Amino acid sequence: MKSQASTPEAIAQAAHALESGQLVAFPTETVYGLGADAENPTAVANIYAAKGRPSNHPVIVHVAPGADISYWAKDIPAEAHQLIAAFWPGPLTLILKRADHIPDAVSGGQDTVGIRCPSHPVAQELLRAFKAGKGGVAAPSANKFGHVSPTMTAHVEEEFEQEIQPGGLIASILDGGQSDVGIESTIVDLSRLATHGPVLLRPGHITVAQMAAVLGTTPAAPDAAAPRASGTLDAHYAPHTPVILVEAAELDDTVNRLHAKNKKLALMSYQAHPAIHAEAWRHLPADPVGYAHDLYAGLRELDHANADLILVEALPQDKDWQGVNDRLRRAAFDSRDVLQGMLG
Ligand code: TXA
Ligand code: MG
Repeated sequence: MKSQASTPEAIAQAAHALESGQLVAFPTETVYGLGADAENPTAVANIYAAKGRPSNHPVIVHVAPGADISYWAKDIPAEAHQLIAAFWPGPLTLILKRADHIPDAVSGGQDTVGIRCPSHPVAQELLRAFKAGKGGVAAPSANKFGHVSPTMTAHVEEEFEQEIQPGGLIASILDGGQSDVGIESTIVDLSRLATHGPVLLRPGHITVAQMAAVLGTTPAAPDAAAPRASGTLDAHYAPHTPVILVEAAELDDTVNRLHAKNKKLALMSYQAHPAIHAEAWRHLPADPVGYAHDLYAGLRELDHANADLILVEALPQDKDWQGVNDRLRRAAFDSRDVLQGMLG
């Protein structure tokens, strides 16, 4: 089964598939999600099976605009309502204390729940149609565990070749075009406010500064006791080809030394490098929003170039670039040794 245009009929069918316990891939403004009824533990278990993800990793519950979050969470602090008023629908996930009747399958056994209301119109229509807008769709990014998140349906199809065959785990893929934001939602933990204040678990399009302006306090970096988040594992968001971050000033030299070893190189840069020759080259916008939008499609394209390495020009380290720097650091995790091995 290939992806489908998101007609009202296709959306109604997808909502029905979710209600009957099946999996549906759908677009959001951040990345595509692989959804299941959050209150059906068997359906949620099938997400883990399809992704090859450990079952103790929590998934985010997506809700329709105006949904009653007190159905999902308890002891909801005023800060949650402030952030919701400012940023929902949109790319912000709140971690709250989980309501007692919500199955712990969605939170991998933790006593919290991650909730987000997406702004993508197709995601919203699906959430309004599913259980008459009163349900929650548990959805991680629609990729195999640890791999690059999908920002268009072609990516979902290449991730789940098996699972989208007739009789496979995934009933349909709704097409919503290319995701606007391009990296996963910002995640902020509000479940331990009294002791830790707000804690940033994953940076994203909604920045710490934007949240600080609303909350009057800056979300802290995760501490050792912060809730686990798989998107925060050291190695994640990685293509099959090793990714190496290289400072702009060292690019030329690195490329020459690798070419001297007969290595085939793919290069992702954001400043012009006309003099540097790589076998495949992708140029990304020089601003964090544009860069995030194209990042994952760029990594996938370069992954297909059959290069020995993907060299990524290191980005500015200021706060505006925090989300993309976080993803690139994880994509490149551990590949320094690969570079040393090739040069050695
Ligand atoms: O933008 C997004 O957030 C996308 C789209 C589909 O909405 N979803 C997404 O899901 O990125 P996923 O599962 O790939 O990443 C969700 C992250 C994981 O790192 C997970 O561990 C964390 O959110 N998470 C979910 N519920 C949590 C909880 N109760 N406590 C701590 N972390 C949680
Ligand atoms: Mg993910």
